[in-house]
Amino acid sequence: MFDIQKIRNDFPILSRTVNGKPLVYFDNGATAQKPKAVIDTLTHYYTYQNSNIHRGVHTLSREITTAYEEARKTIQLHINAKQPGEIIFTRGTTESINLVAHCFGKLNVSEGDEILITQMEHHSNIVPWQQLCEERKAVLKYVPINEEGELKLDQIPLLLSNKTKLVAFTHISNTLGTINPVKEIIQTIRSHSCAAVLIDGAQAVPHLKPDVQELDCDFYAFSGHKLFGPTGVGILYAKSEWLSKFGPYQTGGGTIKTVSMEKTEFAEGPLKFEAGTPHIEGGIGLAAAINYVNAIGFVDIQKHEENLMHYATKRLTEIGHIRIYGSSKHKTSVIAFNVIGAHPFDVGTLLDKYGIAIRSGHHCTQPLCQFYNIPGTIRASFAFYNTIEEIDLFIEALKKSIRFLL
Ligand code: ALA
Repeated sequence: MFDIQKIRNDFPILSRTVNGKPLVYFDNGATAQKPKAVIDTLTHYYTYQNSNIHRGVHTLSREITTAYEEARKTIQLHINAKQPGEIIFTRGTTESINLVAHCFGKLNVSEGDEILITQMEHHSNIVPWQQLCEERKAVLKYVPINEEGELKLDQIPLLLSNKTKLVAFTHISNTLGTINPVKEIIQTIRSHSCAAVLIDGAQAVPHLKPDVQELDCDFYAFSGHKLFGPTGVGILYAKSEWLSKFGPYQTGGGTIKTVSMEKTEFAEGPLKFEAGTPHIEGGIGLAAAINYVNAIGFVDIQKHEENLMHYATKRLTEIGHIRIYGSSKHKTSVIAFNVIGAHPFDVGTLLDKYGIAIRSGHHCTQPLCQFYNIPGTIRASFAFYNTIEEIDLFIEALKKSIRFLL
């Protein structure tokens, strides 16, 4: 049973106050709060388990190596990868995408080749591809969006050719909340090109459980901290056929099989891509977060978040002076809007005085803001621990802010 009060009690930060008011945390798109299960995992690690992995024969090292590799398995099962060896621990979505841009680019992209992205990507899924295309003299193309904030799907076949080497696009837009029809898009890509496909799952994983085999993507990237886990850890899922072809990304300890003064033979599988001592507590903390959300269940999470989104949209629309961006029928619990005549930073600053945490600005999606011809928006992004009562507090605070500003 979805017991919201019990869930909220699992997140200690939700009971704090900000500026003398109860915290209303609606900035989940930027980072999500952590349940006690995750915090306790980190405390337990530093209290009883701290040691290095893959580098010791002593008990602590063996214990934590097992825990870390178990965490890899938890993540594999969560996204339904074929094997744990297809899960690479990184620092986050951004590093996962950079890893693919580097390794895939070196292997597969040369002058005149094309990479296809979309107009709704956040900067982490734009800049690495721009850099790669500049380096390799390749061409970067993008799928445009419509006013509702949806991809113009009919453009995709026209943008694909035998020169397209990779298509990278987001599962869910961080600014608009649009849920892209990933499976359908991948089928279109497969029937019009031989391009590899990377999905940016940063904003999707807090709201749904991706099945990478069902989607049939080559790469799927996400961050731990948006999935209620620690910061500084992320995941790159890569089909094993790519991992065996890729050269290393960064090199050093952990990536090798043998080293002589003349030459290095690299390890196989994910270790080849995990240079240096990794974020050990991040890996086991992320597995704890995944176990936590799975115990609640994504069916209930989605139902609750949909209620929040519909209720908040309705209440916002009733206020007047509001323009909402992104009205796709397939949308998750993210609402980007502006108060007509007010700057998003001013609204954000006033809301903070009432204890409301929202993000204001371009949300790392400047091209998307350029499409709407705005400097940025206010963004309320909900998680399963948010409530209807919090939305009421937010709406009351917003009304007061509007009265002050206009
Ligand atoms: N990309 C993150 C956001 O949407 C940081 O806020």
